Amino acid sequence: MKTRIAVLVSGGGTNLQALLDAEAQGRIPHGEIALVVSNNPKAYALERAKQAGVPAAVLDKAGSQADFEDRLQRILELDGIDLIILAGFMRILTGRFTAKWPNRILNVHPSLIPAFCGQGFYGLRVHEAALARGVKLTGATVHYVNEIPDGGPILLQKAVEVLPEDTPETLQRRVMEQAEWILLPQAAELAARQLAEQA
Ligand code: GAR
Repeated sequence: MKTRIAVLVSGGGTNLQALLDAEAQGRIPHGEIALVVSNNPKAYALERAKQAGVPAAVLDKAGSQADFEDRLQRILELDGIDLIILAGFMRILTGRFTAKWPNRILNVHPSLIPAFCGQGFYGLRVHEAALARGVKLTGATVHYVNEIPDGGPILLQKAVEVLPEDTPETLQRRVMEQAEWILLPQAAELAARQLAEQA
């Protein structure tokens, strides 16, 4: 049986697209993208899910963090989800939630962890910080998620060169093209295969 994957998104969804394309091309043979969940009703990622024919749910952000996590848990359980992939999901999940999914949540982060990660480092801010520090190499990391933001075990990493003329936007794009969109589908297959063999 294939590992049922839920992809959690908040924005543009280019990493979701990389996963959908990889699945369509047979590069995630042990997994099936069964559900997309967004915490943002305006996320373009929802349109991508629709175009790929994948069911999507929007989680209302009203209420407490515990309430948000309980609603998320219910949606995932109802759908028989085995593996969660955070693909540009901009809300932190607490240990109360992550403890229910040990080794079953992956996140893609746009730096070489432990550089430029943790609370406050997300999206373009990561690349702004890398440029401000003047690093010559950055990259992306796919890691398992635990109660420490960006602190779980690292699964895959890939380095990307920083160029002298880079802006946060050009660097973000290069890190996506040369690292994130390649690593995330590979990591999805690795984790999906492991869970499928375990089942
Ligand atoms: C990606 O660069 C992803 O690594 C980053 O947000 C972007 C989402 O783009 N995630 C984080 O910063 C999480 N800490 P996308 O919606 O086009 O995939």
